[in-house]
Amino acid sequence: MFKVGKPVTGKDFFDRSKMLKTVKQQIINDQDFMIKAPRRYGKTSLVKQVLVDNSRPTLYLDLRRAPRLEVIAEQIIDFTYAQVGITGFFSKLKNDAFLLLRENRQTVTINLELFEYSVEFFAKQRDACDMLIEALEIANKISDELGSRFIFIFDEFQDIVKLDCGENDILEALRGAMQHHAAITYGFLGSIEHLMTEIFENKKSPFYNFCRKLKLTPFDIDELQEELISVLEKKRIVIENKKVFNDLLHRLGGHPSNTMLVMQNIYYLALEMELKVITDDTMTEAYENAYYEMLDLVEQYVHELKSKKHNYDVIYRLARGEEQALKGARLNQVYKSLMEMGYVFNEERGKYSVHDGFLVEYLKA
Ligand SMILES: Nc1ncnc2c1ncn2[C@@H]1O[C@H](COP(=O)(O)OP(=O)(O)O)[C@@H](O)[C@H]1O
Ligand SMILES: [Mg+2]
Repeated sequence: MFKVGKPVTGKDFFDRSKMLKTVKQQIINDQDFMIKAPRRYGKTSLVKQVLVDNSRPTLYLDLRRAPRLEVIAEQIIDFTYAQVGITGFFSKLKNDAFLLLRENRQTVTINLELFEYSVEFFAKQRDACDMLIEALEIANKISDELGSRFIFIFDEFQDIVKLDCGENDILEALRGAMQHHAAITYGFLGSIEHLMTEIFENKKSPFYNFCRKLKLTPFDIDELQEELISVLEKKRIVIENKKVFNDLLHRLGGHPSNTMLVMQNIYYLALEMELKVITDDTMTEAYENAYYEMLDLVEQYVHELKSKKHNYDVIYRLARGEEQALKGARLNQVYKSLMEMGYVFNEERGKYSVHDGFLVEYLKA
């Protein structure tokens, strides 16, 4: 019910009614899109939830986990050939390319030449970047032939620039290929905002204006509060004071994973103490438990913040509501850097806030 850690879908998924519609629209319209938001904001959950009852063949590629570009190319080819009934294309290829050909030559349901070409191409030692591009080209051709319109989600896409691709510019190469792929819808998710901005919003980047750009904001507290109360009521648990509960959710600032962690603590306390009514004290206890669970991570954030001059001091003052020592352009520069690092967002002109309520708590103490 209130899950933390892994991406959530179904009964564990809350809020986001607008974004669910928006992302669904992109997919229905075959519109490539990107979503950026800080880590633990629910990007992966959102896309997985949109695709829960989707019938199109979908491949998730997690670039944070991928050690080399070749691995991504292999995943794409394995997925693509699995759609035409050939499973484990790459391991079969590595075992015995001739056997792979012989076993499937008669039965393959797509263009035989393309199949033979695929085996021949990947049987040779190739440059990683060429492999990835060729894998995408083949995927597009097969998707087109099948009339099935594949969906490819590149999660933590910004990490692609950290993978070795020899002399090539990987973004240039990808953009060149992807822009012709009418049979694939691409989704790009990313947590490292300054890199995502650099890739999708810098005029000099090959991905500039490539796709629809979406931003995932915090939970909508009104929508969320209603859903949470109703889920608890189904378990015959009621919140004693709705106003205090609303204050609690605001204190968490709509931060998805922190909110879920507090909710989980509330729920566990209720079970432990056989409570039917959640009192203000229980909520406070749940909040504190959650905060101490996250303290290690918050301290890591502080460590990262201190790696850039002024960043820590500016966020410290911001969290505490103190006047800034820096002024004007220099202050804006630091705010920009804090936004790019995913710690701060711009609420309205000149007004900034810290995403993570637990970090605020830490800085205020
Ligand atoms: N819509 C949601 N409903 C409930 N919990 C959510 C939702 N979105 C995110 N979360 C919480 O945040 C955590 C991280 O979500 P995830 O999708 O992995 O974020 P991201 O991909 O942005 O890092 C989840 O384990 C869950 O606790
Ligand atoms: Mg994710």
